[in-house]
Amino acid sequence: MTNILFAAGPDRWAVYEAPLRAALDGFGLDYVLSCEAAPKTVDYIVYAPDSEVRDFTPYTRLKAVLNLWAGVERITGNETLTVPLARMVDEEGLTQGMVEYVTGHVLRHHLGMDRYILNPDHRWDPVVPPLASERPVTVLGLGTLGTACAGALAGLGFPVSGWSRTPRELEGITCHHGPDGLKKALAGAEILVLLLPDTPATRDLMNRETLALLPRGACIVNPGRGPLIDDAALVEALDAGQVGHATLDVFRKEPLPQDHPFWSHPGVTITPHVAADTRVPSASRVIAENIRRGEAGEPLLHLVDRAAGY
Ligand SMILES: NC(=O)c1ccc[n+]([C@@H]2O[C@H](COP(=O)([O-])OP(=O)(O)OC[C@H]3O[C@@H](n4cnc5c(N)ncnc54)[C@H](OP(=O)(O)O)[C@@H]3O)[C@@H](O)[C@H]2O)c1
Repeated sequence: MTNILFAAGPDRWAVYEAPLRAALDGFGLDYVLSCEAAPKTVDYIVYAPDSEVRDFTPYTRLKAVLNLWAGVERITGNETLTVPLARMVDEEGLTQGMVEYVTGHVLRHHLGMDRYILNPDHRWDPVVPPLASERPVTVLGLGTLGTACAGALAGLGFPVSGWSRTPRELEGITCHHGPDGLKKALAGAEILVLLLPDTPATRDLMNRETLALLPRGACIVNPGRGPLIDDAALVEALDAGQVGHATLDVFRKEPLPQDHPFWSHPGVTITPHVAADTRVPSASRVIAENIRRGEAGEPLLHLVDRAAGY
């Protein structure tokens, strides 16, 4: 009998219980699933970063922690966690949602849609945008989400460059990697999409120096993580016209405090961390598949490299 503790809060339990049971039943697993269990009986924990479980020490027979979120920065440093940690990779829900968010916001900037949507003086002032093929776009982060977004943007005709920690080869994408590759990735990027995780190596990556490497007036779309950007340097770059507009979905502090300068800056669009949510039915199948694998002695999917931090 496999004991599964759902430790991602009562609100999520209410929506996840039935789909998780359906997915686990689909694999013919013999299990107990609950949101309360004696720690020493638990084999798997279904987890969220705001979970009530912080100390994993009492979970003496734990085999793995299965995160419902893609980002794991709030758990990678937990030294009481000594078993494998899997993050959420959900192609049907999360990835598709991110592709839609990124292509939508990139197209907004590319087409200059605001010019006609916000036209308070009713001016007839045609400006024809360039074609996608004339608008270089760079995606920082070529993981699950970055690769899918880069592919979708290339499919629309944009010349797309990308950047990762280790070398990547992706058809139709100019790939750069490592600290030396960043300069090349930023040069010429008229629209920059940030899809990196929050790690010590990526924090404040977009700062005064790196923002200056972008072509003047570049737009930034950040659905990655807030700490990727130095907030003060971004405001400065917006005020100076070095950055034309920033669409931000994620912030150092969420909800974004009301007195934060981003709220009132005309060059900033704020979306409240809605770029890509975990979708319950498909995410339940991902969790159940990993439990099936664990019980069958097969390698788990989507394992986090704790040393790299993602
Ligand atoms: N706003 C939202 O709603 C939302 C939803 C889901 C996820 N997210 C964010 O999106 C992030 C990316 O998700 P994912 O699933 O695509 O992650 P992933 O598959 O782990 O990909 C991460 C990418 O970042 C690269 N990277 C990491 N550290 C780097 C460094 N120091 N220098 C250069 N590249 C580096 C990795 O390089 P390698 O390829 O060499 O490993 C990889 O290409 C998540 O961490 C999360 O923060 C946001």
